Amino acid sequence: MAEKIAKLNMNGKEYDLPILESTLGPDVVKVSELAKDATFTFDPGYNSTASCESKITFIDGSNGILLHRGYPIEQLAEKCEFLEVAHLLLHGELPNKNQKNSFYNDITHHTLVHEQIPRFFSGFRRDAHPMAIMVGVVGALSAFYHTDLDFSSQKNLMLAALRLIAKMPTLAAMTYKYSLGQPFIYPINNLDYAENFLHMMFSLPTEETNVNPVLAKALDKIMILHADHEQNASTSTVRMAGSTGANPFACIAAGIGALWGPAHGGANEACLNMLETIGDEGQIDKYIKKAKDKDDPFRLMGFGHRVYKNYDPRAKIMQKTCHDVLETVGAKDDPLFKLAMKLEKIALEDEYFVDRKLYPNVDFYSGITLRALGVPRNMFTVFFAVARTAGWISQWLEMHNEPTLKLARPRQRYLGATERDVPPIDKR
Ligand code: ACO
Repeated sequence: MAEKIAKLNMNGKEYDLPILESTLGPDVVKVSELAKDATFTFDPGYNSTASCESKITFIDGSNGILLHRGYPIEQLAEKCEFLEVAHLLLHGELPNKNQKNSFYNDITHHTLVHEQIPRFFSGFRRDAHPMAIMVGVVGALSAFYHTDLDFSSQKNLMLAALRLIAKMPTLAAMTYKYSLGQPFIYPINNLDYAENFLHMMFSLPTEETNVNPVLAKALDKIMILHADHEQNASTSTVRMAGSTGANPFACIAAGIGALWGPAHGGANEACLNMLETIGDEGQIDKYIKKAKDKDDPFRLMGFGHRVYKNYDPRAKIMQKTCHDVLETVGAKDDPLFKLAMKLEKIALEDEYFVDRKLYPNVDFYSGITLRALGVPRNMFTVFFAVARTAGWISQWLEMHNEPTLKLARPRQRYLGATERDVPPIDKR
């Protein structure tokens, strides 16, 4: 088959740019050759840029489709556990029974953190934002595994991935316990991943552990929905940091920093704050008006997505999970949930939101669900980070397993001063 090309005429030169086929979704125009002539493409926010080749996650934003390694998110959320999905992301396939046992065993036996790590926590203020602490302690893990940081070894790559997935809930729960002044709780090996996370968050050494299996199952589902999402801002950050050869703990710490922003993982916290600010149904119109007003910075948090210009498929599952959790904890009549449903209905019918294809995203319901699980608001994004670690580290691993590790180094459109001489200080 003849190679497909796109033609570009620029500065009197004609370029034949190869069009590369994808297995799903749009083909891409390879523009790398342009750099040889110091010619660059300009794409702020990377709206039109495919930054890498990947086999992990596919999103069709116009049709609301999300696939991990080809499997629809709806099926994964219904039929799999979070760690099976983590295995799928990491290894490319869902585990069979033996692989599942072995993977779960590996994760379970890496959940403890070094006994020096608790000392890091005492350096932080008790009222520090948990994401600030997470950036610090996850990055600090590299100081504990420096002998295993030779990533020419496949064994070391996988060991780093296992350690990160296994230790994230432990560190996340320690962050919460630290804020309360309560003792850190050790993981228990006969609890599963989600149960252990809830146990480390909410148990006390003075009492027997009592994790509600329905709530653990709901958390497991929430984590599946957040496990990976293609080349989003935090994943791209992890890849960019990783492209320098930086160690995975430092790269994930960078990803955590990127996830923290309210336009990304911080949206569920921001969404719940917004629902509380709106307060009651009678105020919805006022806030819809504010969201539509170009001179008002207010945005409806939990609405809109850079890629989904249709209903976020994760939001549908999250809405159902939210219902189940509220039912289990006896909060079916939760006024914020009712307010959220009303707001969703009104926004979905409003011309402004319809025209711009602004649908609820996964964060619209995840905040209410986590709140019902007893998770404090400032921990929402930490929970997101725990789940997304599976995706981040899979993407990092995929990049490391490419034949050559290509340093990510974008260029710019320069709009600053032209060359000039430095004046003496009395002339400035
Ligand atoms: N409320 C009101 N108006 C909105 C919203 C919103 N939540 N989102 C987008 N718009 C409007 C913009 O003002 C713009 O209008 P215009 O065309 O008249 O200028 C139009 O919709 C397009 O918006 P952009 O910001 O250009 O779209 P982009 O794809 O860059 O933004 C984003 C995506 C950042 C997620 C945005 O929709 C937003 O800020 N949403 C609220 C925050 C949020 O929920 N983030 C979570 C994302 S999901 C996740 O990270 C897991």
